[in-house]
Amino acid sequence: MSSPSPSVPAGSSAAGADPEPGGSDPKPGGSDAEGTRRHLLSVGELGAEGIEEVLRVSDAFAEVGRRAIPKVPALRGRTVVTLFAEQSTRTRLSFETAAKRLSADVMTFSIDSSSVKKGESLRDTVETVAAMGVDAFVVRHPAAGAAAAVARWVDASVVNAGDGWHEHPTQALLDCYTVREALAARHGRPLTEAGVECFAGLRVGVVGDVRHSRVARSLVLALGALGSEVTLVAPGSLLPPSTEGWPVARVCYELDAVLPELDVCYLLRLQTERGTGAFLPSVREYSARYGLSARRAARLPETALVMHPGPMNRGVEIADDVAELPRTVVLRQVSNGVAVRMAVLFMLLGSPGSVAGFPPSSGPTGA
Ligand code: NCD
Repeated sequence: MSSPSPSVPAGSSAAGADPEPGGSDPKPGGSDAEGTRRHLLSVGELGAEGIEEVLRVSDAFAEVGRRAIPKVPALRGRTVVTLFAEQSTRTRLSFETAAKRLSADVMTFSIDSSSVKKGESLRDTVETVAAMGVDAFVVRHPAAGAAAAVARWVDASVVNAGDGWHEHPTQALLDCYTVREALAARHGRPLTEAGVECFAGLRVGVVGDVRHSRVARSLVLALGALGSEVTLVAPGSLLPPSTEGWPVARVCYELDAVLPELDVCYLLRLQTERGTGAFLPSVREYSARYGLSARRAARLPETALVMHPGPMNRGVEIADDVAELPRTVVLRQVSNGVAVRMAVLFMLLGSPGSVAGFPPSSGPTGA
């Protein structure tokens, strides 16, 4: 994908764009001249060390979430805007909950009810909101590169909450957090002692609409950085035209063959809003070949996890009864999302010296 245009029209589609994972490496990048991280646009910016740091800071915020009053004053006086130009339930609420638990002021901005609908450009709208005094924008937009464009327009920090087919970095981080949590529990290890070594050689199948999935792009980048062995499983039409540059071990067209060799089976939603239907003979046929039925789930190793970013299409990517299995950790992914997003916002906006009553035990560095 080429560098995003500075005048990304609100609601414009990324259809036709075919971003490589991390490929658009949007300027101005994640860090400022002093090397302090200002934005989170791609999970690839973090590398293994950065991912590990986010997971460790998330541990502290997960502990905050278990308190009777799950709130800390870490971002008191800071303003976080959620700017969403696409439908969202969990990502938006998760970011808003995270910001509120950090005591930030939260402004919710929906493109659909904004002046963009009166013809104002996204840039003018964003600059107008920024002029009210904003410390961070959390951006979701159907155009790949939109979050990077916002990062160029404003002085505030920007978190990419999903840009077209490109990336969804906090989803990958919360997915990694959930895997690490499950593996630590299985080995009877306190989570705070678990690093990211559990990802080395971990066999992860990413199944379904890889072509149109920002979740897949970010997840593959994160797992690649952590040394996992990723298999993409999809019909040819739902794979990207080229997987060059994707840190994957293999590509497979048959789910049944792969299942017995997986530690994690990660199911992707069919992105029908991005035109997936045109790439498939029928949803029923897709489901028959790639849906995780109870019969298929039984072929997974006993300890394998089943994951899905949500929203799940029950009966398409995942059977109803499989969604309810103890090995299916979809709701853990959602719960962990809040702690991980608290960590990301804190690491971008928090100043360690100003954090009264935080952290509970060992502390985030506020890098
Ligand atoms: C994902 C998204 O919107 O990219 N959902 C989410 O953020 N939880 C995945 C999807 O919609 O398929």
